[in-house]
Amino acid sequence: MVRAPTYLFFAHVLGASAWSTFVVPHTAGTDDTPALLTALPTYSSNSTILFEKGVTYNILTPVKFPTLNNVEIRIEGNITYPTDIPTIQAIVGSSSFSGAWFAFTGGNNVTLRGSTDPKWGWVDGHGQAWWDAQQQINRPHGWAFSKISNGVIRDMKLWKPVAWNFATSGSSNIHAFNNKIIAVSATDVRGFSAGGSNMLFENNHVVNGDDCLTVGNGAKNIHFRNSYCEGGHGLSIGSLGKGGQVSDVQNVLIENVFMNNTLYAARFKSWTGGNGLARNITWKNIDFLDVPFPIYVTQNYWDQGIGPRPNSTSTNNTHIQDFIFQNFAGVIKEYDTNYVEGSCVTDPCWYFVPGATGKEVVILDLYPDTAVNVVAKNILATTRTKSPVTVMCNTTAISTDVGFKCWNGRFIPTRAGIQL
Ligand SMILES: *[C@@H]1O[C@H](CO)[C@@H](O)[C@H](O)[C@H]1NC(C)=O
Ligand SMILES: *[C@@H]1O[C@H](CO)[C@@H](O)[C@H](O)[C@H]1NC(C)=O
Ligand SMILES: *[C@@H]1O[C@H](CO)[C@@H](O)[C@H](O)[C@H]1NC(C)=O
Ligand SMILES: *[C@@H]1O[C@H](CO)[C@@H](O)[C@H](O)[C@H]1NC(C)=O
Ligand SMILES: *[C@@H]1O[C@H](CO)[C@@H](O)[C@H](O)[C@H]1NC(C)=O
Ligand SMILES: *[C@@H]1O[C@H](CO)[C@@H](O)[C@H](O)[C@H]1NC(C)=O
Ligand SMILES: *[C@@H]1O[C@H](CO)[C@@H](O)[C@H](O)[C@H]1NC(C)=O
Ligand SMILES: *[C@@H]1O[C@H](CO)[C@@H](O)[C@H](O)[C@H]1NC(C)=O
Repeated sequence: MVRAPTYLFFAHVLGASAWSTFVVPHTAGTDDTPALLTALPTYSSNSTILFEKGVTYNILTPVKFPTLNNVEIRIEGNITYPTDIPTIQAIVGSSSFSGAWFAFTGGNNVTLRGSTDPKWGWVDGHGQAWWDAQQQINRPHGWAFSKISNGVIRDMKLWKPVAWNFATSGSSNIHAFNNKIIAVSATDVRGFSAGGSNMLFENNHVVNGDDCLTVGNGAKNIHFRNSYCEGGHGLSIGSLGKGGQVSDVQNVLIENVFMNNTLYAARFKSWTGGNGLARNITWKNIDFLDVPFPIYVTQNYWDQGIGPRPNSTSTNNTHIQDFIFQNFAGVIKEYDTNYVEGSCVTDPCWYFVPGATGKEVVILDLYPDTAVNVVAKNILATTRTKSPVTVMCNTTAISTDVGFKCWNGRFIPTRAGIQL
């Protein structure tokens, strides 16, 4: 028998089993980021990076992670952003800022894990001061979980984050579950931004002031389910096609979500003059309470805060195909001309729809010859005043059965709308 040299044997054992744990150090009254950044290259593979319970960490400058392989980041202590707005604005406005306060830059098998202890594991963004000051300039986006293959985001808890959170652009095979975002009275705080492929988002709880979920260009095979959204702008695809962008979004399933007091429930938006295609998108089993626009599709999106709708000369637009809205039930929040939602800074508001009565359960604002198979089925809605539920739809833009009589008038289900 020939024995392997001893040093090879040890190298093998160490390589296979060496797992390191780095406990992030904390020094009271100072920024804990530099010590973390110094240690990260040593713990960028086969490691746990632990923010330990019992400590409130000061993350006063941004954290940019190197490429990570087999790394778990556990947040069992609390984390605080700077409380001072100008300090953050200066950092976010500088050319070296990576785009997010916690930026991932790539890697494989990365877990971002919070705590299930209700008192600990909170990342405090101190957003209230920003909202009170209506401060929108150089806001820090939160967690950019970018370019990760095989990632997990679980048990994370964000307290009053200032801007957008959990963006997964360029990532694949992501499971995000049991996360909480609490941004009561916020404006423009986005929940999940799904930007890659093969992702499952479930059992998340989002209270915010912008999209609960937004699915961006390039997203494929996105499944979002069993979640709660309150106060924000809904379950959105887009915006797509800005500045003529060629979009590609496919295979999105959003199901079993309770939309409470949100501006929209299901929403699609693409800019006038875009290109490309969004196809095979289903919103299913959506309950809503006090939602002004339960189902809203526009292929004519523009920034109403900037001025009137541009007269597009483009013959192109983002095409949409196989959009199904199925099993919606709830109460429409009727609005009048005085209706103001937190993000409204212009008059009329950016979400104002000319001609709308405030009782529409579905608004299809489509671009001619670019929408195929858009169907709303099994829709059960009431208004607070018990006045008839209405729709907006124009047969000039879509000639197939959309599940209800396509006109600006009462909601009258048609054959496609009552088939289950
Ligand atoms: C990490 O662990 C795996 C086995 O789990 C091993 O194959 C790999 O070489 C290790 N990577 C480093 C950088 O030690
Ligand atoms: C992936 O990372 C986890 C820690 O988050 C670790 O337990 C597991 O062994 C890693 N998987 C592989 C295949 O190395
Ligand atoms: C952790 O942060 C949360 C949110 O700010 C706070 O409610 C909680 O009291 C903090 N926990 C401790 C132990 O300080
Ligand atoms: C549509 O998307 C769903 C996921 O939501 C997927 O299971 C199905 O295979 C897709 N269908 C087609 C025709 O691409
Ligand atoms: C809906 O949200 C409101 C606050 O916007 C809250 O008071 C109420 O408890 C929520 N209802 C349900 C059923 O979750
Ligand atoms: C678009 O065209 C209409 C009619 O010609 C005109 O009244 C409107 O001002 C134009 N809008 C813009 C943004 O140019
Ligand atoms: C319109 O779409 C075609 C085909 O995708 C493309 O070649 C052309 O550049 C687009 N035009 C504009 C103005 O976007
Ligand atoms: C439908 O769209 C056509 C073409 O844009 C427009 O002329 C017509 O006024 C629209 N009808 C309604 C009821 O809005």
